[in-house]
Amino acid sequence: MAGYVVVGTQWGDEGKGKVVDLLGKHVDMVVRYQGGNNAGHTVVVNGKKTVLHLLPSGILNKDALCVIGPGVVLNPFVLFEEVEALEKEGLQCDHLRISDRTQLLMPYHVRLDELIEARGGKYKVGTTKNGIGPCYADKYSRIGIRVCDLQDWNVFEEKLKSTLEIKNAEIEKVYGGEPFDYDEIVAQFKGIREKMLPMICDSVSLVNEALENDKVVLFEGAQANMLDINYGTYPFVTSSSPTSAGVLEGAGVPPQSLTRIIGVAKAYSTRVGEGPYITELLGDEGEALRQKGFEFGATTGRPRRCGWLDLPVVKQAVRINGLTDIAMTKIDILTGYDKIPVCVGYELDGKQIDYVPASLEVYGRCKPVWKVFDGWTEDISQIRNYEDLPENCRKYVEFVEEYTKTSVSLVSVSPEREGNIIRKPLI
Ligand code: IMP
Repeated sequence: MAGYVVVGTQWGDEGKGKVVDLLGKHVDMVVRYQGGNNAGHTVVVNGKKTVLHLLPSGILNKDALCVIGPGVVLNPFVLFEEVEALEKEGLQCDHLRISDRTQLLMPYHVRLDELIEARGGKYKVGTTKNGIGPCYADKYSRIGIRVCDLQDWNVFEEKLKSTLEIKNAEIEKVYGGEPFDYDEIVAQFKGIREKMLPMICDSVSLVNEALENDKVVLFEGAQANMLDINYGTYPFVTSSSPTSAGVLEGAGVPPQSLTRIIGVAKAYSTRVGEGPYITELLGDEGEALRQKGFEFGATTGRPRRCGWLDLPVVKQAVRINGLTDIAMTKIDILTGYDKIPVCVGYELDGKQIDYVPASLEVYGRCKPVWKVFDGWTEDISQIRNYEDLPENCRKYVEFVEEYTKTSVSLVSVSPEREGNIIRKPLI
């Protein structure tokens, strides 16, 4: 079986789309297995930039079936906005399939996310306010509405009626928000349902048959390990599992189908939203890195918090995901720094640890232990052979490899599609 997984090793925005793009032409199927339109990746279609939130970047490959898996929370209105934007640029999306088990992200989920975040203070997670958490909460409370429910309109209406009663009560009584009108939601879904019906499939058969027939299937992760609901900095996390384990659950495939698990790691680190961030650079230093790396969110436009590479974080991703390879991105952004610190552990109450503690109170007491590397000044953006990189740059890459005991198989040296050094072919 040939299942390839691309996951984020930090807090998202590592450049997963670039790695997916590189694998693109070898792939027969692309599957999204978790998250929703909280993701954001910029793709270029016929020379024009488009930001996708729900569709995987693999949608650009017309020859590969593109599947929205059961683990996703799907806002159908956003989905069709994206489909229509791509079609306007000449990319037909008739290779898109939606799993019948996928949860529908409803308008009340978005409103609840906004209301919950509006409480501010210690409750504020800094979500994308797209309804992700409330939708997963309903899924696990077993009051979610799934794509298969749209196939039988009576079932959809019945489920909407009973769930909306609960959700409207919560919106009004707990948060003082505006309730929803049942008929309005029904009317909205009547329209979108017609567009969705031809795309709905039993994705478990579709994806497993592809794997059984030795097709190359790419599982495209959104968000990242440190935003994982179990292993991230809870509660400052997203509500799904962006890990390789999330693939098994969210796409319905067996563990032995995952042959290559590629973790994408930015050569420094960034984070959007609230939550602890040990290597964060504040003030002018943070601003300089943000400007140099153009670190602004593709979904919300928020400035990303920026800092040095945190290797205990990457190591945690190696362990949890079983990474076979690391793809290191944006190392060119570090060009010109005289000294480049890398966090190699945390000092906690006088002892050194190399893992991410569960408790935020404990994590908050951790101080970074630095190893400082000498920088380089040469422009590396046109280099394509690893041996041609400046020695100090190679030392940096090789230290990551040594620390994580994982092959850094790809080093991205410029935003261009071709701007990569391939040390070990990924496919
Ligand atoms: P939610 O997923 O919208 O509930 O947001 C929860 C946390 O995950 C917030 O800190 C978001 O900023 C963060 N987050 C969600 N999706 C992404 C992403 O694609 N990139 C980076 N951060 C994300």
